[in-house]
Amino acid sequence: MKFKPFELERWFVKYEHDCEIMMGESGVKPLTLKELLDLTGNSIDKVLDTKLGYGWSNGLPKLRELIAEEYEELDTNHIVVTNGAIEANFIISYTLLEPNSEVVTFFPTYAQLWQVGENLGARVKKLRLLMDNKYKPNIDQLAGMISENTDLIIINYPNNPSGACIEKTDLEEICALAEQYNIPVLSDEIYRGLEYKTTDRAPPAADLYENAISVAGLSKVYGLPGLRIGWLACQNKELLKRIWSFRDFTSICNGVLNEKVAEIALKSREILLERGRKIAVKNFEILKQWVDDHSDVISWVPPKAAVLTMLMYHFDMDSETFCKGLAEEQSVFTAPGSCFETEKQFRVGFGYDTERLKEGLKRLGEYIASLKEQ
Ligand SMILES: Cc1ncc(COP(=O)(O)O)c(C=O)c1O
Repeated sequence: MKFKPFELERWFVKYEHDCEIMMGESGVKPLTLKELLDLTGNSIDKVLDTKLGYGWSNGLPKLRELIAEEYEELDTNHIVVTNGAIEANFIISYTLLEPNSEVVTFFPTYAQLWQVGENLGARVKKLRLLMDNKYKPNIDQLAGMISENTDLIIINYPNNPSGACIEKTDLEEICALAEQYNIPVLSDEIYRGLEYKTTDRAPPAADLYENAISVAGLSKVYGLPGLRIGWLACQNKELLKRIWSFRDFTSICNGVLNEKVAEIALKSREILLERGRKIAVKNFEILKQWVDDHSDVISWVPPKAAVLTMLMYHFDMDSETFCKGLAEEQSVFTAPGSCFETEKQFRVGFGYDTERLKEGLKRLGEYIASLKEQ
């Protein structure tokens, strides 16, 4: 099979290690194991008795129980724990799609979501979320794009790369349309919980529609990407079982130590969510001030969640040249809009150290000033 590469990951490989300031990350600053244990009032002894055998194929029961608490309509048997959200996304597409399948994906989004299908030979139709429309989905357009031939609808809110949220009514309409044609919905909700205002939080799609599969995990909001703990959640147990059985070909199960630490983390979810939100809101305010100060050359739709966003610059320069120049001249890493098939824009991640973000923005300002002079 010929695989089209994952452009964003390739860009990271090229530049991230050579830059002093990283503004490309997409999650909240990761915790060390010690920090996690201290923050949640636990001791390392809690994990020392873990038997290092194979784990449960659908995930540690206690962990699934804790995950299920996030959904109103689901219990332990509606959850499968995966190696990161990326494995959940992968096995969903791999189970539901084949050559000539038809997929409708909201776009831009995390490329893995639709590219697995494309690499399998599926026809991918992109419903563009426009900056001009504040990334709000056009439901009429969606209605015109789907039919009984559609095999999967892919959505991702809060959205990577924009940080936009979805309104509950829009999500309900998407689910109603999908139900009309009996189309499964892959809803990547890995940033759910990182809304700056709780009123912007939509319910999980899996609570609204039997064939919606909500994907989430501990990598972004919880600052625990190294645990590689994600999950998929779905009311339809038959559908869930089909997808779950595919993981026999990918990873068999999760690392049992990772699951144990994930259990500790989710038992104290409120502490970790609070930490994530505090970092997000504080750094968002700093970024907002910077954008306000540069509004002659930069525009955006302020994100309502997550720790990433797209900035549009008003120069006649393609996004790769812009980000390459920023990396080479100022040693600041950002991701070009080209990775999201969007030009004159770049993605900024702001979930790490506040001081480092300030320094990165200072250098970005200097870079832009130098471009103005040219
Ligand atoms: C929208 C989205 N989904 C899934 C993932 C993958 O997450 P994980 O590290 O849990 O595999 C990412 C990572 O950037 C993402 O942005």
